[in-house]
Amino acid sequence: MNNATAVAPLRVAIIGAGQVADKVHASYYATRNDLQMVAVCDSRLEQAQAFATKFEITACYDDVRLMLQAAQPDIVSVCSPNRFHFEHVLAALEAGCHVMCEKPPAMTPQQADQMRALAHKQGKVLAYDFHHRFSLDAQLLREQVQSGVLGEVYLTTATALRRSGVPGWGVFTNKAMQGGGPLIDIGIHMLDAAMYVLGFPPARRVMAHSFQKLGTVKSSGQFGEWDPTQYTVEDALFGTIEFQNGSLLRLETSFVLNIAETSRLNVTFCGDKAGATLFPAHVYNDVNGELNSIIQREQADDNRHFRSMDAFVRHVLGEAVTIADADQGFVVQQLVAALYESAEKGEWVKIC
Ligand SMILES: NC(=O)c1ccc[n+]([C@@H]2O[C@H](COP(=O)([O-])OP(=O)(O)OC[C@H]3O[C@@H](n4cnc5c(N)ncnc54)[C@H](O)[C@@H]3O)[C@@H](O)[C@H]2O)c1
Repeated sequence: MNNATAVAPLRVAIIGAGQVADKVHASYYATRNDLQMVAVCDSRLEQAQAFATKFEITACYDDVRLMLQAAQPDIVSVCSPNRFHFEHVLAALEAGCHVMCEKPPAMTPQQADQMRALAHKQGKVLAYDFHHRFSLDAQLLREQVQSGVLGEVYLTTATALRRSGVPGWGVFTNKAMQGGGPLIDIGIHMLDAAMYVLGFPPARRVMAHSFQKLGTVKSSGQFGEWDPTQYTVEDALFGTIEFQNGSLLRLETSFVLNIAETSRLNVTFCGDKAGATLFPAHVYNDVNGELNSIIQREQADDNRHFRSMDAFVRHVLGEAVTIADADQGFVVQQLVAALYESAEKGEWVKIC
């Protein structure tokens, strides 16, 4: 962001003018004077027009390829429903753009693999918006784990549970459009945060069980109403990832589950020297039966979503900033697919 130089702002285009594009992507881009939002595309043209008016974007489209050709963006945000991430990311990379794609990367690991291959071939940045890893809490715990403060971490528990938090907008209950329910929507966030803190250890095999007991019966909750007759995703999934080093990551995730809290979103790490909780970051051990706090943040970092966008843009600008990259996105997608496969087959699934 240097007003003194005469460098033209990078041109930004947005695909999918929904709530995350509004509250996160465009809201972040609008804070920078070295970026200019030049176009927005939505399959509903009136949605793109309303978005363009709000963010003072001059060009609206309902056709992605037309937009890419006409607007010639340098950066593209892909904020369309999951099912379209693959085709929209490929189109943007083919057009020579850097891409920030919403999570999940795609519907299948095969797609995520093709996306990373094309990003490498084009020499362009492909980042995924796994924003929880950009919290100061996750950064701090990663340092603690990687420097050995926790010792050998042999049990990690990633939790993304909602009591009645089925999204009442969009296509989140539609398996064909989403690829799944809470696992691919919210569980994936805590899975990525856990993997990031652990340093992405290679997995050996996974086992999972999924349930669909309430989403097809209930119809309202904290995020509005849904149609139970059109509810085709799992309510909840509980799984275990066994890593090649013998340690375990347990994952529990739900849109709707009879728990006391409205929502439980966290990761805990248990090592042989200390344990840790992610939100807010807290590292502790036991001293003579008493909890001994080694490090403790007062409250969890709420600015993590803008930090995720900021890391992407700074990476594009050539700064040595870590992003949730295309290779890690592939690994996370592979784990999600294996968890779903295991839940369907009722057996362990090997990770190749
Ligand atoms: N990182 C996060 O925490 C986070 C939060 C919310 C959503 N998301 C992800 O963002 C994506 C969008 O979610 P949302 O909540 O903004 O949904 P949304 O329904 O509010 O927005 C999606 C928009 O995409 C448009 N669209 C649908 N098909 C399209 C197509 N073929 N081409 C162009 N536009 C199309 C829709 O008309 C809609 O305006 C999803 O993949 C979701 O998983 C991520």
